[in-house]
Amino acid sequence: MTVHFIGAGPGAPDLLTLRGRDLIAACPVCLYAGSLVPEGVLAHCPPGARIVNTAPLSLDEIIAEIAAAHAEGKDVARLHSGDLSIWSAMGEQLRRLRALGIPYSVTPGVPSFSAAAAALEAELTLPGLAQTVVLTRTPGRASAMPEGEKLAAFAATGAVLAIHLSIHLLGQVIAELTPHYGADCPVAIVWRASWPEQRVVRATLATLNAAVGTEMERTALILVGKTLGAADFDESRLYAADYDRRYRPIGAEPRFPEVS
Ligand SMILES: C[S@@+](CC[C@H](N)C(=O)[O-])C[C@H]1O[C@@H](n2cnc3c(N)ncnc32)[C@H](O)[C@@H]1O
Repeated sequence: MTVHFIGAGPGAPDLLTLRGRDLIAACPVCLYAGSLVPEGVLAHCPPGARIVNTAPLSLDEIIAEIAAAHAEGKDVARLHSGDLSIWSAMGEQLRRLRALGIPYSVTPGVPSFSAAAAALEAELTLPGLAQTVVLTRTPGRASAMPEGEKLAAFAATGAVLAIHLSIHLLGQVIAELTPHYGADCPVAIVWRASWPEQRVVRATLATLNAAVGTEMERTALILVGKTLGAADFDESRLYAADYDRRYRPIGAEPRFPEVS
């Protein structure tokens, strides 16, 4: 018996890995974080599966569900939105399972920042403009931010910010970022990326507040940075005609001579 932690992706049922889909289809028990995992993803569960929304459960109750499946020898698909490496609460569950000696596996998923960038048709790192993306959030009721992880500190680097869990604090986010990026810095909000009702708002830090309606709450990402919508950027040297590289040796004395 194994508990399979599976990144369920940003919402579209077909934005799962094939491994994730196959594991869901093979597990007679499915525990899903219903606050964010849309029900369409549950269509991959086998007929007759026990499907439990863990949104209203405590950690103890979730572990009790898993322990009951373990006692019956039934594999469990444990679904969290996006990828499991960020804000999934997987860490505390794995710690309990290790203490109980219950086996588990981890399968990554498509994170929401990737789905949001795809909705914007954007490469977030563009030569000469930004080469770093910071995945961050503002403090919430359940999670304080460690000292030093302030939005302003990240903003001071000029990196692209993908700000999660913060749409309800939009005014505060804009006020903290504007001194660093400037009022004309491009910003985008992607609400429910990859869901049928997905919405995208593009603006600048100065115009964003007026452009965003009140209906875009909770499942939204705020992306800030010079690369959003930029047309004026350098081309990558990687594909430059005169760039000598391992897979395209150039000149009389290439840096990486072809090996026959
Ligand atoms: C608890 S975190 C989960 C993050 C998730 N593990 C991931 O990989 O993206 C929830 C936050 O992720 C963002 N989010 C998750 N799914 C989203 C989606 N489909 N569209 C936009 N933002 C999303 C929102 O900022 C939301 O408040």
